[in-house]
Amino acid sequence: MTNGDRDETLRVRDIFDKFAPKYDRSMQRWERILFVGGREWLGAQASGDVLEVGVGTGRNLPHFSPTVRLTAIDISPQMLAVARRRAAAIDRDVDLRLGDAQALEFADESFDTVIFGLCLCSIPEDRRAVVEASRVLRAGGRIALLEHVRSPLMIIRAGQRLLDPLAVRFGGDHLVREPAQVLRAASFEIEELQRSRWGIVERAVARKNAPA
Ligand SMILES: C[S@@+](CC[C@H](N)C(=O)[O-])C[C@H]1O[C@@H](n2cnc3c(N)ncnc32)[C@H](O)[C@@H]1O
Repeated sequence: MTNGDRDETLRVRDIFDKFAPKYDRSMQRWERILFVGGREWLGAQASGDVLEVGVGTGRNLPHFSPTVRLTAIDISPQMLAVARRRAAAIDRDVDLRLGDAQALEFADESFDTVIFGLCLCSIPEDRRAVVEASRVLRAGGRIALLEHVRSPLMIIRAGQRLLDPLAVRFGGDHLVREPAQVLRAASFEIEELQRSRWGIVERAVARKNAPA
């Protein structure tokens, strides 16, 4: 990782540390507008040993089956503190850890499912995070993601391009990313791809194939 990548990672961590007390309230609004049913869908994709990357305040935690063995990481101690309170409140057994998606601390082939919920947009090096996810997944394991992405509609995309520099600067949030392309570039096989809300919202499931 370059010094620039490290600086950007710390900058994003600080943004989310500050945002943590307000995150849940702000997110409730976006869930009504853009992500209706998305968290339920995401939770339903998880099976076996599950890693949630960028768990944030733990808004996906209630949606995982009690049968999955759940580990979750986030770069922001303050977001993680809220997730710990949520996990305790709902009595969800989860191994919550501070960690960087771009350099996971886990051994190769440790998980059956890796979940990204609205966080590939925030991780400075999203490609590296997907390569790391691939490393810690077992062959045949899956990534499931819910993200806001670049719209295929020209007028919406133009608006996203206009707002993107501000969103990145003040929210650490990239508006014009294409996670499905990143998954394909990392040799994942896309099994399911859904777009909604003017093409801004993406749900995807992708499988790590066994080496040939
Ligand atoms: C928009 S929030 C999404 C939180 C949660 N997944 C959700 O669905 O509400 C993005 C999260 O990604 C985390 N994040 C950003 N960069 C990260 C990194 N390099 N490693 C781990 N987490 C990171 C942020 O701290 C933040 O909690």
